[in-house]
Amino acid sequence: MKLLVTAGPTREHLDPVRFLSNRSTGKMGFAVARAAAVRGHQVTLVAGPVSLPTPAGVRRIDIVSACDLLTAVKRRLRFADALVMTAAVADWRPASVSPVKLKKRGMSRVLALEPNPDVLQTIRPCKGTRLFVGFAAETGDPVREAERKLRTKGLDLIVANDVSRPDSGFAVDTNKVTFLSLANDSLERLDLPLLTKDEVAERLVEWLEQKQCEEV
Ligand code: PMT
Repeated sequence: MKLLVTAGPTREHLDPVRFLSNRSTGKMGFAVARAAAVRGHQVTLVAGPVSLPTPAGVRRIDIVSACDLLTAVKRRLRFADALVMTAAVADWRPASVSPVKLKKRGMSRVLALEPNPDVLQTIRPCKGTRLFVGFAAETGDPVREAERKLRTKGLDLIVANDVSRPDSGFAVDTNKVTFLSLANDSLERLDLPLLTKDEVAERLVEWLEQKQCEEV
């Protein structure tokens, strides 16, 4: 299978030294890329700014912003059988970007923002028979919110990620997730125990392999 995987945060610059971002380290997405490559799949990894080594056998494209990520995904999608979006894409970016460092004295206390494109929604018309997997980092009721995203984003699978626990979600090596998919519009749910991100990645790649077999 040819897999396109996104990982890490995006950075939305306000000037050359300041940006909006989030706590994603890329660990989950790099684990997916590594697991897929180990199982013999061809993997392209679109990575936000993270400090992780590229897994062996994986082709890596580095990006900074949500718009860069969208461009990279659009370019590579036609070569992919499956897209796995683990990236924590910033929903907003500063409305204007200064090419030079803004002076503290001259800065407004109010930051004007504009929405970033939703990558999955934008590329949805090009999905065809490809498998699309999203992740949803949630506090509160991860499954309910993830189900909404599964349906509104037209995904084959969403990985509901409980980020309220200290051993799950951002920047740790373990993850507590639930796989949610739809079969004839009814929800299929697989609650996994606390696993390492490498184990979650293996389960995800196995799910993709199985799904692809079913569709042949
Ligand atoms: O990198 P780590 O430190 O290992 O942390 C891993 C993780 C917590 C970042 C990861 O497991 C995770 O949950 N990623 C999804 C983060 C998230 O909250 O996504 P979301 O709920 O904002 O978006 C849902 C889906 O839509 C995601 O697949 C996302 O990539 C995608 N999206 C989001 C915004 C946007 N503008 N375009 C998108 O396509």
